Amino acid sequence: MTPKILIIDDDTSLRRVLEYNLQQAGYEVTAAASGEEGLRLFAEVSPALVITDMKMPGMDGMQVLKNIKERSAETLVIIITAFGSVDIAVEAMKAGAYDYVTKPFNRDALKLTVDKALQFSRLATENRRLQSELIDRSDFRTIVGSSPGMEKVFATVRKVADSEASVLISGESGTGKELVARSIHSQSGRRKGPFVAINCSAIPRDLLESELFGHVKGAFTGAIRDKSGKFQQAEGGTLFLDEIGDLPLELQPKLLRVLQEREVEPVGGPGPLKLDVRVLAATNLDMDQALASGNFREDLYYRLAVIPILLPPLRERRDDIPLLLRYFCTKHGCQQVVFDAPALAALSAYSWPGNVRELENMVERLLIMRNSDAITLADLPENLGIRKQSSSAGASVINLPAEGYSLEQLEREVVVEALERNAWNQTAAARFLRIPRHTLIYRIEKYGIALPSR
Ligand SMILES: Nc1ncnc2c1ncn2[C@@H]1O[C@H](COP(=O)(O)OP(=O)(O)OP(=O)(O)O)[C@@H](O)[C@H]1O
Ligand SMILES: [Mg+2]
Repeated sequence: MTPKILIIDDDTSLRRVLEYNLQQAGYEVTAAASGEEGLRLFAEVSPALVITDMKMPGMDGMQVLKNIKERSAETLVIIITAFGSVDIAVEAMKAGAYDYVTKPFNRDALKLTVDKALQFSRLATENRRLQSELIDRSDFRTIVGSSPGMEKVFATVRKVADSEASVLISGESGTGKELVARSIHSQSGRRKGPFVAINCSAIPRDLLESELFGHVKGAFTGAIRDKSGKFQQAEGGTLFLDEIGDLPLELQPKLLRVLQEREVEPVGGPGPLKLDVRVLAATNLDMDQALASGNFREDLYYRLAVIPILLPPLRERRDDIPLLLRYFCTKHGCQQVVFDAPALAALSAYSWPGNVRELENMVERLLIMRNSDAITLADLPENLGIRKQSSSAGASVINLPAEGYSLEQLEREVVVEALERNAWNQTAAARFLRIPRHTLIYRIEKYGIALPSR
Protein backbone atom coordinates (compact mmCIF):
# COMPACT_ATOMS: atom_id res chain seq x y z
CA MET A 1 0.00 0.00 0.00
CA THR A 2 1.35 3.40 -0.96
CA PRO A 3 1.72 5.58 2.12
CA LYS A 4 -0.49 8.68 2.08
CA ILE A 5 0.90 12.11 2.86
CA LEU A 6 -1.02 15.30 3.51
CA ILE A 7 0.73 18.60 2.86
CA ILE A 8 -0.62 21.80 4.42
CA ASP A 9 0.98 25.05 3.31
CA ASP A 10 -0.45 28.43 2.36
CA ASP A 11 2.49 29.20 0.08
CA THR A 12 1.29 27.97 -3.30
CA SER A 13 4.64 27.52 -4.98
CA LEU A 14 6.21 25.73 -2.03
CA ARG A 15 3.16 23.47 -1.79
CA ARG A 16 3.41 22.58 -5.48
CA VAL A 17 7.12 21.79 -5.18
CA LEU A 18 6.55 19.58 -2.15
CA GLU A 19 3.69 17.81 -3.80
CA TYR A 20 5.66 17.18 -6.96
CA ASN A 21 8.77 15.91 -5.15
CA LEU A 22 6.91 13.51 -2.90
CA GLN A 23 4.81 12.20 -5.77
CA GLN A 24 8.03 11.57 -7.67
CA ALA A 25 9.29 9.68 -4.64
CA GLY A 26 6.29 7.36 -4.99
CA TYR A 27 3.92 8.63 -2.34
CA GLU A 28 0.24 9.36 -2.61
CA VAL A 29 -0.03 13.06 -1.87
CA THR A 30 -2.91 15.36 -0.99
CA ALA A 31 -2.38 19.08 -0.52
CA ALA A 32 -4.27 21.78 1.35
CA ALA A 33 -3.83 25.55 1.30
CA SER A 34 -4.93 26.24 4.88
CA GLY A 35 -5.13 24.61 8.30
CA GLU A 36 -8.91 24.39 8.05
CA GLU A 37 -8.83 22.72 4.66
CA GLY A 38 -6.06 20.45 5.93
CA LEU A 39 -8.15 19.14 8.81
CA ARG A 40 -11.08 18.51 6.50
CA LEU A 41 -8.88 16.52 4.11
CA PHE A 42 -7.26 14.76 7.03
CA ALA A 43 -10.59 13.23 7.97
CA GLU A 44 -11.15 12.24 4.35
CA VAL A 45 -7.87 10.60 3.45
CA SER A 46 -6.48 9.46 6.87
CA PRO A 47 -2.86 9.99 5.88
CA ALA A 48 0.01 8.25 7.65
CA LEU A 49 1.98 11.47 7.63
CA VAL A 50 1.14 15.17 7.68
CA ILE A 51 3.59 17.89 6.69
CA THR A 52 2.43 21.28 7.79
CA ASP A 53 3.78 24.77 7.63
CA MET A 54 3.83 26.59 10.96
CA LYS A 55 2.97 30.13 10.04
CA MET A 56 -0.31 30.33 8.20
CA PRO A 57 -3.16 32.82 8.29
CA GLY A 58 -6.19 31.44 10.18
CA MET A 59 -5.46 28.16 11.85
CA ASP A 60 -1.72 27.90 12.29
CA GLY A 61 0.50 24.83 12.23
CA MET A 62 0.51 24.43 15.99
CA GLN A 63 -3.28 24.23 16.10
CA VAL A 64 -3.28 21.80 13.21
CA LEU A 65 -0.74 19.63 15.03
CA LYS A 66 -2.69 19.58 18.29
CA ASN A 67 -5.93 18.88 16.49
CA ILE A 68 -4.48 15.95 14.57
CA LYS A 69 -2.80 14.46 17.63
CA GLU A 70 -6.12 14.62 19.42
CA ARG A 71 -7.91 12.77 16.67
CA SER A 72 -5.24 10.24 15.91
CA ALA A 73 -2.19 9.97 18.13
CA GLU A 74 -0.52 7.54 15.70
CA THR A 75 -0.39 9.97 12.79
CA LEU A 76 3.05 11.47 12.33
CA VAL A 77 3.37 15.19 11.82
CA ILE A 78 6.41 16.94 10.36
CA ILE A 79 6.44 20.70 10.65
CA ILE A 80 8.06 23.27 8.43
CA THR A 81 9.52 26.30 10.20
CA ALA A 82 11.34 29.35 8.97
CA PHE A 83 15.07 29.42 9.38
CA GLY A 84 15.98 30.69 12.84
CA SER A 85 12.72 29.83 14.64
CA VAL A 86 14.09 26.94 16.64
CA ASP A 87 11.91 27.66 19.67
CA ILE A 88 8.78 27.14 17.63
CA ALA A 89 10.18 23.83 16.45
CA VAL A 90 10.92 22.79 20.02
CA GLU A 91 7.43 23.72 21.11
CA ALA A 92 5.97 21.70 18.26
CA MET A 93 8.08 18.67 19.16
CA LYS A 94 6.77 18.91 22.70
CA ALA A 95 3.23 18.96 21.36
CA GLY A 96 3.87 15.68 19.57
CA ALA A 97 5.45 16.58 16.22
CA TYR A 98 7.65 13.78 14.95
CA ASP A 99 10.30 15.99 13.31
CA TYR A 100 10.81 19.37 11.67
CA VAL A 101 12.49 20.84 8.62
CA THR A 102 13.61 24.42 8.27
CA LYS A 103 13.07 26.55 5.24
CA PRO A 104 14.76 26.64 2.84
CA PHE A 105 15.31 22.92 2.54
CA ASN A 106 16.64 20.78 -0.25
CA ARG A 107 14.73 17.98 -1.86
CA ASP A 108 16.90 15.13 -0.60
CA ALA A 109 16.88 16.26 3.02
CA LEU A 110 13.09 16.40 2.96
CA LYS A 111 12.79 13.01 1.32
CA LEU A 112 15.09 11.49 3.92
CA THR A 113 13.05 12.91 6.78
CA VAL A 114 9.83 11.64 5.20
CA ASP A 115 11.22 8.15 4.54
CA LYS A 116 12.49 7.86 8.06
CA ALA A 117 9.14 8.99 9.49
CA LEU A 118 7.17 6.52 7.42
CA GLN A 119 9.45 3.67 8.31
CA PHE A 120 8.96 4.55 11.94
CA SER A 121 5.21 4.62 11.43
CA ARG A 122 5.28 1.16 9.81
CA LEU A 123 7.24 -0.28 12.70
CA ALA A 124 4.92 1.33 15.20
CA THR A 125 1.87 -0.07 13.42
CA GLU A 126 3.41 -3.53 13.26
CA ASN A 127 4.28 -3.32 16.92
CA ARG A 128 0.73 -2.36 17.81
CA ARG A 129 -0.59 -5.25 15.72
CA LEU A 130 1.67 -7.75 17.46
CA GLN A 131 0.70 -6.40 20.81
CA SER A 132 -3.00 -6.61 20.15
CA GLU A 133 -2.53 -10.15 18.87
CA LEU A 134 -0.84 -11.01 22.12
CA ILE A 135 -3.71 -9.56 24.07
CA ASP A 136 -6.18 -11.52 21.92
CA ARG A 137 -4.37 -14.74 22.63
CA SER A 138 -4.24 -14.19 26.34
CA ASP A 139 -7.80 -12.98 26.46
CA PHE A 140 -9.60 -15.90 28.04
CA ARG A 141 -12.63 -13.75 28.47
CA THR A 142 -13.80 -14.23 24.91
CA ILE A 143 -17.19 -15.89 25.11
CA VAL A 144 -18.02 -17.46 21.78
CA GLY A 145 -21.60 -17.95 20.69
CA SER A 146 -24.24 -16.59 18.34
CA SER A 147 -27.18 -18.81 19.24
CA PRO A 148 -30.30 -17.08 20.59
CA GLY A 149 -29.56 -18.61 24.00
CA MET A 150 -26.12 -17.04 24.15
CA GLU A 151 -27.30 -13.73 22.68
CA LYS A 152 -29.65 -13.52 25.64
CA VAL A 153 -26.76 -14.18 28.01
CA PHE A 154 -24.63 -11.48 26.34
CA ALA A 155 -27.46 -8.96 26.56
CA THR A 156 -27.90 -9.60 30.28
CA VAL A 157 -24.16 -9.45 30.91
CA ARG A 158 -23.97 -6.07 29.16
CA LYS A 159 -26.87 -4.73 31.18
CA VAL A 160 -25.75 -5.89 34.60
CA ALA A 161 -21.99 -5.49 34.25
CA ASP A 162 -21.88 -1.91 35.39
CA SER A 163 -24.35 -2.28 38.23
CA GLU A 164 -23.53 -3.48 41.70
CA ALA A 165 -26.20 -6.19 41.66
CA SER A 166 -25.35 -9.73 42.71
CA VAL A 167 -25.58 -12.17 39.85
CA LEU A 168 -26.18 -15.90 40.13
CA ILE A 169 -24.92 -17.78 37.11
CA SER A 170 -26.26 -21.28 36.78
CA GLY A 171 -25.64 -23.97 34.23
CA GLU A 172 -24.22 -27.42 33.78
CA SER A 173 -20.54 -28.07 34.28
CA GLY A 174 -18.40 -26.68 31.46
CA THR A 175 -20.97 -24.25 30.08
CA GLY A 176 -18.77 -21.24 30.78
CA LYS A 177 -20.03 -19.92 34.13
CA GLU A 178 -16.64 -18.70 35.27
CA LEU A 179 -16.03 -17.14 31.87
CA VAL A 180 -19.26 -15.16 32.22
CA ALA A 181 -18.30 -14.07 35.73
CA ARG A 182 -14.92 -12.81 34.49
CA SER A 183 -16.58 -11.07 31.60
CA ILE A 184 -18.99 -9.25 33.94
CA HIS A 185 -16.06 -8.14 36.06
CA SER A 186 -14.02 -6.93 33.12
CA GLN A 187 -16.94 -4.91 31.74
CA SER A 188 -17.71 -3.35 35.11
CA GLY A 189 -16.39 -0.22 36.76
CA ARG A 190 -14.39 -2.55 38.99
CA ARG A 191 -12.30 -3.93 36.11
CA LYS A 192 -9.14 -2.38 37.53
CA GLY A 193 -9.77 -4.02 40.89
CA PRO A 194 -9.08 -7.68 41.67
CA PHE A 195 -11.19 -10.63 40.53
CA VAL A 196 -11.01 -13.23 43.25
CA ALA A 197 -12.56 -16.68 42.90
CA ILE A 198 -13.27 -19.24 45.56
CA ASN A 199 -14.71 -22.67 45.01
CA CYS A 200 -17.03 -23.39 47.93
CA SER A 201 -17.08 -27.13 47.30
CA ALA A 202 -13.32 -27.57 47.06
CA ILE A 203 -12.44 -26.24 50.51
CA PRO A 204 -12.92 -28.33 53.64
CA ARG A 205 -15.91 -27.19 55.66
CA ASP A 206 -14.00 -26.13 58.75
CA LEU A 207 -11.57 -24.00 56.74
CA LEU A 208 -14.13 -22.33 54.55
CA GLU A 209 -15.18 -19.67 57.03
CA SER A 210 -11.66 -18.38 57.54
CA GLU A 211 -10.95 -18.68 53.79
CA LEU A 212 -13.92 -16.44 53.10
CA PHE A 213 -13.75 -13.97 55.95
CA GLY A 214 -10.16 -14.29 57.23
CA HIS A 215 -9.01 -14.87 60.77
CA VAL A 216 -6.76 -13.33 63.37
CA LYS A 217 -3.73 -14.96 64.90
CA GLY A 218 -4.69 -17.48 67.58
CA ALA A 219 -8.34 -17.65 66.53
CA PHE A 220 -8.03 -21.44 66.36
CA THR A 221 -5.29 -24.07 66.48
CA GLY A 222 -3.05 -23.50 63.51
CA ALA A 223 -3.94 -19.83 63.11
CA ILE A 224 -0.37 -18.69 63.59
CA ARG A 225 -0.85 -15.29 62.05
CA ASP A 226 -3.52 -12.95 60.83
CA LYS A 227 -4.90 -14.01 57.49
CA SER A 228 -7.12 -11.99 55.20
CA GLY A 229 -10.07 -13.76 53.65
CA LYS A 230 -11.18 -13.78 50.03
CA PHE A 231 -13.60 -10.96 50.78
CA GLN A 232 -10.79 -8.66 51.90
CA GLN A 233 -8.63 -9.76 48.96
CA ALA A 234 -11.43 -8.76 46.59
CA GLU A 235 -11.66 -5.24 48.07
CA GLY A 236 -12.46 -2.79 45.31
CA GLY A 237 -13.14 -5.64 42.90
CA THR A 238 -15.29 -8.72 42.45
CA LEU A 239 -15.59 -11.90 44.49
CA PHE A 240 -16.72 -14.96 42.57
CA LEU A 241 -18.30 -17.62 44.79
CA ASP A 242 -18.17 -20.75 42.68
CA GLU A 243 -20.34 -23.81 43.44
CA ILE A 244 -22.34 -21.75 45.89
CA GLY A 245 -24.89 -24.57 46.18
CA ASP A 246 -22.31 -26.46 48.22
CA LEU A 247 -21.96 -23.74 50.84
CA PRO A 248 -22.57 -25.47 54.20
CA LEU A 249 -25.83 -24.52 55.83
CA GLU A 250 -24.12 -23.15 58.95
CA LEU A 251 -22.13 -20.62 56.89
CA GLN A 252 -25.11 -19.37 54.96
CA PRO A 253 -26.39 -16.89 57.58
CA LYS A 254 -22.87 -15.50 57.93
CA LEU A 255 -22.58 -14.90 54.22
CA LEU A 256 -26.02 -13.33 54.19
CA ARG A 257 -24.93 -10.91 56.91
CA VAL A 258 -21.81 -9.92 54.99
CA LEU A 259 -23.87 -9.23 51.88
CA GLN A 260 -26.47 -7.22 53.76
CA GLU A 261 -24.21 -5.24 56.04
CA ARG A 262 -21.38 -4.89 53.53
CA GLU A 263 -18.93 -5.70 56.27
CA VAL A 264 -16.97 -8.77 57.20
CA GLU A 265 -15.90 -10.18 60.57
CA PRO A 266 -12.69 -12.21 60.55
CA VAL A 267 -12.77 -15.35 62.70
CA GLY A 268 -11.75 -14.42 66.24
CA GLY A 269 -11.46 -10.86 65.03
CA PRO A 270 -11.82 -7.55 66.74
CA GLY A 271 -15.01 -6.61 64.96
CA PRO A 272 -16.48 -6.04 61.56
CA LEU A 273 -14.51 -4.41 58.72
CA LYS A 274 -16.20 -2.34 56.02
CA LEU A 275 -16.13 -3.87 52.55
CA ASP A 276 -16.44 -2.71 48.98
CA VAL A 277 -16.88 -5.93 47.07
CA ARG A 278 -19.27 -7.04 44.37
CA VAL A 279 -20.38 -10.63 44.62
CA LEU A 280 -21.02 -12.99 41.72
CA ALA A 281 -21.94 -16.61 42.34
CA ALA A 282 -22.28 -19.75 40.24
CA THR A 283 -23.87 -23.12 40.64
CA ASN A 284 -24.33 -26.23 38.58
CA LEU A 285 -26.91 -27.60 40.98
CA ASP A 286 -30.61 -27.42 40.64
CA MET A 287 -31.16 -24.62 43.14
CA ASP A 288 -34.93 -25.21 43.23
CA GLN A 289 -34.26 -28.61 44.64
CA ALA A 290 -31.71 -27.31 47.15
CA LEU A 291 -34.23 -24.71 48.27
CA ALA A 292 -37.09 -27.20 48.53
CA SER A 293 -35.01 -29.65 50.53
CA GLY A 294 -33.86 -26.92 52.90
CA ASN A 295 -30.20 -27.26 51.95
CA PHE A 296 -30.07 -23.68 50.84
CA ARG A 297 -31.63 -20.73 52.62
CA GLU A 298 -34.17 -18.86 50.63
CA ASP A 299 -33.17 -15.43 51.95
CA LEU A 300 -29.55 -15.97 50.88
CA TYR A 301 -30.66 -17.28 47.51
CA TYR A 302 -32.65 -14.13 46.77
CA ARG A 303 -29.73 -11.96 47.91
CA LEU A 304 -27.39 -13.74 45.52
CA ALA A 305 -29.76 -14.12 42.62
CA VAL A 306 -30.82 -10.50 42.21
CA ILE A 307 -30.02 -11.13 38.55
CA PRO A 308 -30.08 -14.77 37.51
CA ILE A 309 -28.24 -15.86 34.38
CA LEU A 310 -28.88 -19.31 33.02
CA LEU A 311 -26.26 -20.74 30.68
CA PRO A 312 -27.92 -23.20 28.34
CA PRO A 313 -26.18 -26.55 27.85
CA LEU A 314 -24.34 -26.91 24.56
CA ARG A 315 -26.81 -29.48 23.22
CA GLU A 316 -29.50 -26.78 23.39
CA ARG A 317 -27.46 -24.36 21.29
CA ARG A 318 -25.98 -26.57 18.63
CA ASP A 319 -25.64 -23.57 16.30
CA ASP A 320 -22.64 -22.57 18.39
CA ILE A 321 -20.75 -25.83 17.78
CA PRO A 322 -19.12 -24.95 14.42
CA LEU A 323 -18.19 -21.53 15.80
CA LEU A 324 -16.60 -23.03 18.90
CA LEU A 325 -14.67 -25.61 16.85
CA ARG A 326 -13.25 -22.77 14.75
CA TYR A 327 -12.48 -20.68 17.81
CA PHE A 328 -10.59 -23.42 19.63
CA CYS A 329 -8.58 -24.36 16.52
CA THR A 330 -7.51 -20.73 16.28
CA LYS A 331 -6.90 -20.47 20.02
CA HIS A 332 -4.54 -23.42 19.78
CA GLY A 333 -2.72 -21.96 16.80
CA CYS A 334 -4.23 -24.18 14.08
CA GLN A 335 -6.58 -21.86 12.19
CA GLN A 336 -5.89 -23.77 8.97
CA VAL A 337 -7.58 -26.93 10.27
CA VAL A 338 -11.02 -27.66 8.80
CA PHE A 339 -13.72 -30.20 9.62
CA ASP A 340 -15.35 -31.91 6.65
CA ALA A 341 -19.15 -31.95 6.42
CA PRO A 342 -19.75 -35.45 7.88
CA ALA A 343 -17.43 -34.76 10.82
CA LEU A 344 -19.14 -31.44 11.44
CA ALA A 345 -22.55 -33.11 11.26
CA ALA A 346 -21.51 -35.79 13.73
CA LEU A 347 -20.05 -33.24 16.16
CA SER A 348 -23.17 -31.13 15.86
CA ALA A 349 -25.36 -34.13 16.65
CA TYR A 350 -23.36 -35.26 19.67
CA SER A 351 -24.87 -34.51 23.08
CA TRP A 352 -21.80 -32.94 24.76
CA PRO A 353 -22.52 -33.85 28.37
CA GLY A 354 -19.33 -32.00 29.37
CA ASN A 355 -20.42 -28.98 27.33
CA VAL A 356 -17.85 -26.47 26.03
CA ARG A 357 -15.07 -27.81 28.23
CA GLU A 358 -15.49 -31.26 26.68
CA LEU A 359 -15.51 -29.74 23.20
CA GLU A 360 -12.35 -27.77 23.84
CA ASN A 361 -10.56 -30.84 25.23
CA MET A 362 -11.61 -32.84 22.21
CA VAL A 363 -10.33 -30.18 19.81
CA GLU A 364 -7.00 -30.09 21.62
CA ARG A 365 -6.65 -33.85 21.33
CA LEU A 366 -7.68 -33.83 17.68
CA LEU A 367 -5.15 -31.15 16.83
CA ILE A 368 -2.35 -33.19 18.34
CA MET A 369 -3.41 -36.54 16.89
CA ARG A 370 -4.51 -35.43 13.42
CA ASN A 371 -2.85 -36.77 10.28
CA SER A 372 -3.78 -33.82 8.13
CA ASP A 373 -5.44 -30.44 8.37
CA ALA A 374 -8.75 -31.88 7.18
CA ILE A 375 -10.57 -33.59 10.03
CA THR A 376 -12.91 -36.38 8.92
CA LEU A 377 -15.26 -38.76 10.72
CA ALA A 378 -12.44 -41.27 11.03
CA ASP A 379 -10.41 -38.80 13.09
CA LEU A 380 -13.09 -38.31 15.70
CA PRO A 381 -12.45 -40.08 18.99
CA GLU A 382 -14.37 -43.29 19.72
CA ASN A 383 -15.42 -42.05 23.11
CA LEU A 384 -17.65 -39.42 21.56
CA GLY A 385 -20.00 -42.32 20.85
CA ILE A 386 -20.38 -41.04 17.32
CA ARG A 387 -21.47 -43.75 14.93
CA LYS A 388 -18.97 -43.82 12.14
CA GLN A 389 -20.55 -46.48 9.93
CA SER A 390 -23.34 -44.11 9.15
CA SER A 391 -25.51 -43.49 6.13
CA SER A 392 -24.13 -42.20 2.87
CA ALA A 393 -24.76 -38.60 3.85
CA GLY A 394 -22.39 -39.23 6.69
CA ALA A 395 -24.73 -38.14 9.44
CA SER A 396 -26.15 -40.52 12.01
CA VAL A 397 -29.50 -42.14 11.18
CA ILE A 398 -30.82 -41.62 14.65
CA ASN A 399 -30.56 -38.76 17.03
CA LEU A 400 -30.79 -40.04 20.57
CA PRO A 401 -32.02 -37.69 23.27
CA ALA A 402 -29.34 -36.57 25.72
CA GLU A 403 -31.06 -38.08 28.72
CA GLY A 404 -30.87 -41.60 27.26
CA TYR A 405 -33.35 -43.89 25.60
CA SER A 406 -34.60 -47.44 26.09
CA LEU A 407 -33.11 -49.84 23.55
CA GLU A 408 -36.26 -51.97 23.63
CA GLN A 409 -38.44 -48.95 22.89
CA LEU A 410 -36.11 -48.00 20.06
CA GLU A 411 -36.24 -51.52 18.61
CA ARG A 412 -40.01 -51.56 18.80
CA GLU A 413 -40.21 -48.26 16.92
CA VAL A 414 -37.80 -49.49 14.26
CA VAL A 415 -39.85 -52.66 13.70
CA VAL A 416 -43.12 -50.73 13.43
CA GLU A 417 -41.61 -48.25 11.00
CA ALA A 418 -40.18 -51.01 8.82
CA LEU A 419 -43.59 -52.67 8.69
CA GLU A 420 -45.37 -49.42 7.90
CA ARG A 421 -42.95 -48.55 5.13
CA ASN A 422 -43.51 -51.95 3.59
CA ALA A 423 -47.28 -51.87 3.78
CA TRP A 424 -47.17 -54.38 6.63
CA ASN A 425 -45.69 -57.01 4.34
CA GLN A 426 -43.58 -59.05 6.76
CA THR A 427 -41.25 -60.54 4.15
CA ALA A 428 -40.46 -57.11 2.73
CA ALA A 429 -40.07 -55.58 6.20
CA ALA A 430 -37.65 -58.35 7.22
CA ARG A 431 -35.59 -57.73 4.09
CA PHE A 432 -35.60 -54.02 4.82
CA LEU A 433 -34.23 -54.70 8.31
CA ARG A 434 -31.77 -57.27 6.94
CA ILE A 435 -33.03 -60.01 9.32
CA PRO A 436 -34.69 -63.39 8.67
CA ARG A 437 -38.50 -63.39 8.55
CA HIS A 438 -38.82 -65.54 11.68
CA THR A 439 -36.71 -63.06 13.66
CA LEU A 440 -39.10 -60.31 12.63
CA ILE A 441 -42.13 -62.38 13.65
CA TYR A 442 -40.47 -63.11 16.98
CA ARG A 443 -40.02 -59.34 17.57
CA ILE A 444 -43.60 -58.58 16.54
CA GLU A 445 -44.81 -61.04 19.15
CA LYS A 446 -42.30 -59.94 21.77
CA TYR A 447 -43.45 -56.33 21.58
CA GLY A 448 -47.10 -57.23 21.05
CA ILE A 449 -47.23 -55.16 17.87
CA ALA A 450 -50.79 -55.24 16.61
CA LEU A 451 -51.02 -55.82 12.89
CA PRO A 452 -53.75 -53.84 11.13
CA SER A 453 -56.77 -55.98 10.42
CA ARG A 454 -57.26 -56.72 6.76
N1 LIG B 1 -18.86 -19.78 25.07
C1 LIG B 1 -17.56 -20.09 25.25
N2 LIG B 1 -16.63 -19.60 24.43
C2 LIG B 1 -15.33 -19.91 24.58
N3 LIG B 1 -14.86 -20.71 25.54
C3 LIG B 1 -15.73 -21.23 26.41
C4 LIG B 1 -17.13 -20.95 26.31
N4 LIG B 1 -17.75 -21.59 27.31
C5 LIG B 1 -16.81 -22.24 27.99
N5 LIG B 1 -15.58 -22.04 27.46
C6 LIG B 1 -14.33 -22.64 27.92
O1 LIG B 1 -14.65 -23.91 28.46
C7 LIG B 1 -13.97 -24.13 29.67
C8 LIG B 1 -14.96 -24.28 30.81
O2 LIG B 1 -15.58 -23.06 31.09
P1 LIG B 1 -15.86 -22.58 32.58
O3 LIG B 1 -14.75 -22.96 33.49
O4 LIG B 1 -16.26 -21.15 32.55
O5 LIG B 1 -17.12 -23.49 32.87
P2 LIG B 1 -17.97 -23.64 34.19
O6 LIG B 1 -19.39 -23.50 33.77
O7 LIG B 1 -17.45 -22.73 35.24
O8 LIG B 1 -17.70 -25.17 34.57
P3 LIG B 1 -17.73 -25.88 36.01
O9 LIG B 1 -19.15 -25.89 36.47
O10 LIG B 1 -17.25 -27.26 35.69
O11 LIG B 1 -16.82 -25.11 36.88
C9 LIG B 1 -13.05 -22.97 29.86
O12 LIG B 1 -11.79 -23.29 29.32
C10 LIG B 1 -13.71 -21.87 29.06
O13 LIG B 1 -12.75 -20.94 28.63
MG1 LIG C 1 -16.46 -23.17 37.02
